[in-house]
Amino acid sequence: MQLIHTIAELREALSQYRHPAVVPTMGNLHAGHLALVRQAKPLGDVTISTIFVNRLQFAPHEDFDTYPRTLEADCEHLEAAGCDIVFAPKESELYPQAQTFKVHPPTELADILEGHFRPGFFIGVCTVVMKLLAVTQARTALFGKKDYQQLMVIRNMVKQFALPIDVIGGETQRNEAGLALSSRNGYLTPAQREEALLLSRTLRYIVDTVRQGETDLARLEQEGMQTLRAAGWLPDYVAVRRQSDLQTPLAGDAKVVLAAARLGTTRLIDNMEI
Ligand code: PAJ
Repeated sequence: MQLIHTIAELREALSQYRHPAVVPTMGNLHAGHLALVRQAKPLGDVTISTIFVNRLQFAPHEDFDTYPRTLEADCEHLEAAGCDIVFAPKESELYPQAQTFKVHPPTELADILEGHFRPGFFIGVCTVVMKLLAVTQARTALFGKKDYQQLMVIRNMVKQFALPIDVIGGETQRNEAGLALSSRNGYLTPAQREEALLLSRTLRYIVDTVRQGETDLARLEQEGMQTLRAAGWLPDYVAVRRQSDLQTPLAGDAKVVLAAARLGTTRLIDNMEI
């Protein structure tokens, strides 16, 4: 496995390949990221993982400075997962001057749910993903369903810009108790890691209840918010939406339930398809 820090070196390394399969990450890798790398393996002739903590997608009050940076351990995991190239640029390499050209995703997709509570978040994500797809010459790119809205925004960006890239979604990886794996789980105390199970349990309850025929989705959303609040969480949203565009579902639409909530100072997100 090659560890590469510059775009020039990456170009050189890629000259012998025709079909890079790319897994963009911010590092501090866990089994969720590594599952995407394994899924990527057969989809290209070279498997690349990028590691870059992207300042553009963090608001000033968010955890950019404290976001865990664990390059050495990440590389060990990536090598074991069969990754061929790790691209880990410095900020000055990817953003040598202020990134004033940005990708602005459409309001109806990017200013709802996560975008409502993290204004500008998807501008930062789209801008860096566009750039990472360009520098890695991706022909296939993999993103986790854990960040359901992100996957949808990127899918639509790639489609609307007619990029010659297949976007593939990977299933959310969870621990034995059901907690969705996340780099931010590392912020939780052992007691909070137990409490954190309430998020996936709340989603599971909503999935089961809708499958049993419940049609009052607004009531279920409120109930979910209330369950979290009663346990001391600060929920941003619990929302049942249409899978295809994350708008309010009509009867018969395939649905997904999504939630974001703060437990102490840690903001967690999760979702389940119904
Ligand atoms: P990061 O949070 O590091 O996640 C990298 C990729 O791993 C994303 O596609 C995310 O959805 C996926 N992922 C995270 N947890 C997962 C889990 N439990 N199961 C399956 N997949 C999981 O998402 C980002 O970084 C950034 O926004 C990025 C796309 C790299 C742009 O900066």
